[in-house]
Amino acid sequence: MNVMSHSDLPAKRRLLIVFGTRPEALKCFPVARAALDHSGFLTRICVTGQHRELLDQVIQLTSLPVHYDLNIMQPGQTLFDVTARVLTGMAEVLDEFKPDIVMVQGDTTTAMAAALAAFYKRISVAHVEAGLRSHNINSPFPEELNRKVAANIATWHFAPTALARDNLVAEGTDPANIFVTGNTVIDTLLHFSATIDADAMMNAELSSRFPYLDPSKKMILVTGHRRENFDGGIDRICHALRVLAARGDVQIIFPVHPNPNVRGVVDAELGNVPNIHLITPQEYLPFVYLMKQSYLVLTDSGGVQEEVPSLGKPVLVMRDNTERPEGVAAGTARLVGTDIDKILSNANALLDDQLAYRGMAGRHNPYGDGRASTRIIEELLRHD
Ligand code: UD1
Ligand code: UDP
Repeated sequence: MNVMSHSDLPAKRRLLIVFGTRPEALKCFPVARAALDHSGFLTRICVTGQHRELLDQVIQLTSLPVHYDLNIMQPGQTLFDVTARVLTGMAEVLDEFKPDIVMVQGDTTTAMAAALAAFYKRISVAHVEAGLRSHNINSPFPEELNRKVAANIATWHFAPTALARDNLVAEGTDPANIFVTGNTVIDTLLHFSATIDADAMMNAELSSRFPYLDPSKKMILVTGHRRENFDGGIDRICHALRVLAARGDVQIIFPVHPNPNVRGVVDAELGNVPNIHLITPQEYLPFVYLMKQSYLVLTDSGGVQEEVPSLGKPVLVMRDNTERPEGVAAGTARLVGTDIDKILSNANALLDDQLAYRGMAGRHNPYGDGRASTRIIEELLRHD
């Protein structure tokens, strides 16, 4: 009988997964779960705490273990604060765990600074959700640059779509290091959406959280938080929502992001407006429930733009450009910017014209099939 000694066993890859905000946590969850369950990796999770409450909501829902927490969030933090605190915090974690691979996701300052920290320690980086480009360095700001910095550092590029791969190839990235996987947010969405669908009690509990929802009125779900919309954009969005609410046949549900630059304006402009419900940031399950209940979604969020097409709802994107043009090409998303007239004309058309509505509604999956995380783990195991 051949007995394997410890030294014959294939060495486990030491994988450090780093994230700090709500969308990164939601998008890293299925990859982290797959890595933690795979014997080929010794996986550790480091949260920067760039977000606190929003991040903790996801950690609680997913039960992911947190091995390191840099706990950096400060109220009203600047980009300088976040960058500096992630960079210095990461140095210690990298020295302690000594990973072979650092995995980052997307375009946040956490992702950019954690990739930079790994580079300074000469550790290979895997970049999930690589290659999205608006081709405008100022929008989304600072995310377009953050994503490009991560791309310059990364060894492995997990591109959600063929277009994202093409963007990387056009910038000179070796195609052999790019893998088109789909977006992991669809893995997360399909998982939790199926959980809701399969559980009548959960459905009833989620419904009971919104007793004020009136089934006779169409529900418009709204989110907004982009930095490039702080300079008047959020005010214009609020103005458009006030006009929409005055139609009387719609109800607007707006979970307000805790960023003081958002909350201050939204509370002042939309507090106590009939047919507008400002609510706290929702945990993921109730938020998925609201997306499923909605007639139409208005957002400037990246993740929401990716999720809504998979649920068969139209989405009006309150941005001038997008690094996620696949939804627009599929006909399920439309760019309306923060121009009041444009928001109103597009929303009113979808509310009043069933043909226009049906043209945009309908299930599309330009961003993935729910198997992105499996592909990412398989590729990482294949490459040294
Ligand atoms: C960050 C990301 C953005 C991402 C967004 C997701 C950067 C530069 N920005 O923007 O790409 O789309 O997260 O939501 O990385 N706050 C809380 N509690 C929280 C989270 C935030 O109170 O749980 C408040 C704090 O006052 C904090 C402020 O919001 O200082 C801003 O947070 P920050 O992460 O810097 O910016 P976001 O606008 O959330
Ligand atoms: N989301 C949530 N609760 C909310 C609003 C959004 O769980 O109240 C989820 C949403 O489904 C998506 C993610 O958070 O998966 C998007 O996060 P956000 O809009 O903050 O960031 P972005 O995607 O723009 O970077």
